[in-house]
Amino acid sequence: MKIKTVSLFLFLCGCLPTLTHGWGGNGHRIVGAIAASYLTEQARATVTDLLGDETLATASTWADEIKSDESYNWAYRLHFINLPRGVEKVDLARDCVGGDCVVAAINKYSAIMADSGAEREDRIEALKFLVHFIGDIHQPLHVSYADNLGGNTVKVSWFGKTADTGPFGDFEWNLHGAWDFGFISQRTGSDWVALALRIRADINDLQLINWSSTRDPEEWANESYYITRQIYDQLPKDKVLGQGFYEQHIATVETRLASAGVRLAALLNRSFSGMTVASRAE
Ligand code: ADE
Ligand code: ZN
Ligand code: ZN
Repeated sequence: MKIKTVSLFLFLCGCLPTLTHGWGGNGHRIVGAIAASYLTEQARATVTDLLGDETLATASTWADEIKSDESYNWAYRLHFINLPRGVEKVDLARDCVGGDCVVAAINKYSAIMADSGAEREDRIEALKFLVHFIGDIHQPLHVSYADNLGGNTVKVSWFGKTADTGPFGDFEWNLHGAWDFGFISQRTGSDWVALALRIRADINDLQLINWSSTRDPEEWANESYYITRQIYDQLPKDKVLGQGFYEQHIATVETRLASAGVRLAALLNRSFSGMTVASRAE
């Protein structure tokens, strides 16, 4: 990547490395920063107009932050979709009853965000949900099984540790956490900007075209579910995860972050084309 592109990228994601957990935390920021680097001028202007001082990267974690606010309890189920064991694909009638899942959430908030007649506050909230949920739906274990809470109850050892200390205190390693933040922090520690830049630099034109032309979140969920089945097929019986498991999956982790960023940008570019900042002024 050229120096100019790198500095533009850093400028767009508005980011200094921050230490926190998560595709909570740093994974979500990486998705937001990659998306920011692919916005058209028009989409960038609309995003800036809606987010103000925030960037896609900084806004990407809001949907996790509100989990501690009881008035947002209704949003808990919108971060994932679970399927029965043994099936091949998502079936929304079966797996997303009442529209309470990440696929339906992405469809719902895309519509609100793109509706210039909707309340400004609702469009801002919709954009913040979308940045986050498009990250979540690309984390394979957010499309998995309810019986172990998406792998949250599957205890593992991660590079020799069953427990660890993070920015939010002590925690026990589980399969879900390994995918949310284990791979990512193993790769570059807390320097998520470095990882975002590296992933961004590896995206080729064919991937750009393929990823942005796959528009239906149900397809993104099916891709994640396919990976989830591979994860469980390849999970060692003793659940001791280290270099071998890391090498088996790290390329997939990076591809999921990259495709999430590209698809978020494609959605924003389509949604905000033909919409000028001036036409939305009060
Ligand atoms: N809680 C229940 N199922 C989950 C999943 N698939 N991902 C994250 N959290 C969950
Ligand atoms: Zn989430
Ligand atoms: Zn998660």
